[in-house]
Amino acid sequence: MTLDGKITTKNFTAVDFTSREDKMHLLRQRALGDAVLIGHSTLKHDNVRLGVPHPELREARVARGQTDYPLRVIVSNEGRIDSNLKIFQSEVSPIVIFSTLRMPVRYQKLLRQKATLHLSDARSVDLAWMLQQLRSEYRVRSVACEGGATLFRNLLEEDLVDQLNLTIAPYMFGGAAAPTLTGLSKDFLPRSIRCSLTDMRIVAEECFLTYRIKHRR
Ligand SMILES: NC(=O)c1ccc[n+]([C@@H]2O[C@H](COP(=O)([O-])OP(=O)(O)OC[C@H]3O[C@@H](n4cnc5c(N)ncnc54)[C@H](OP(=O)(O)O)[C@@H]3O)[C@@H](O)[C@H]2O)c1
Repeated sequence: MTLDGKITTKNFTAVDFTSREDKMHLLRQRALGDAVLIGHSTLKHDNVRLGVPHPELREARVARGQTDYPLRVIVSNEGRIDSNLKIFQSEVSPIVIFSTLRMPVRYQKLLRQKATLHLSDARSVDLAWMLQQLRSEYRVRSVACEGGATLFRNLLEEDLVDQLNLTIAPYMFGGAAAPTLTGLSKDFLPRSIRCSLTDMRIVAEECFLTYRIKHRR
């Protein structure tokens, strides 16, 4: 995030404004999860594979009793996910897509060749149900969510986030059309969310923050 709270610019391009240290931090966090979760828009714009390129991170996973790569999970309501994206060219771990029956049949056919689809008949994916499915069907105990803002906000609204890892980078972008951490929505969150700072690290000009999110219950 920039100093003024932006996570990208108005074009939603994959802007590269953080250091190598931050990218390594992201990979370390990703490597902790049994699954890594991403929203369709971020997947489309950043075209990420969601792998774990460093052997030592994979070895640490195996030593902890995890699979060498996290399960890769994509969430989309409309389901128009391009099966040519890079993630589908990489076979490091299974890919699971949570979407709805709004996904056109031609997309279903192509995506089924590369991923397991969970399609609900609601307008949108029930995120709590999705997490339950991940737990019961895929034995997932921890999920590393890499955004974007819309998905993060939806998870926050349903009180489904335990921890936030936030890197503050020394830039300002400005612009009302550039999303902040919780997206572009002008609405307030249903309630203000109390966070508790559990770690703060400064490396060069970036600040690495870890917050525990206080739950409603
Ligand atoms: N700076 C950073 O650290 C960082 C991190 C992540 C992303 N980003 C940037 O953020 C931008 C994308 O942000 P965003 O807010 O547009 O994207 P997003 O949250 O990645 O994706 C939004 C899309 O994901 C699906 N989705 C979100 N919530 C859902 C839910 N509850 N149920 C089912 N599907 C759901 C929908 O897909 P459908 O439209 O297919 O229905 C929705 O349109 C990109 O530019 C990316 O580069 C920056």
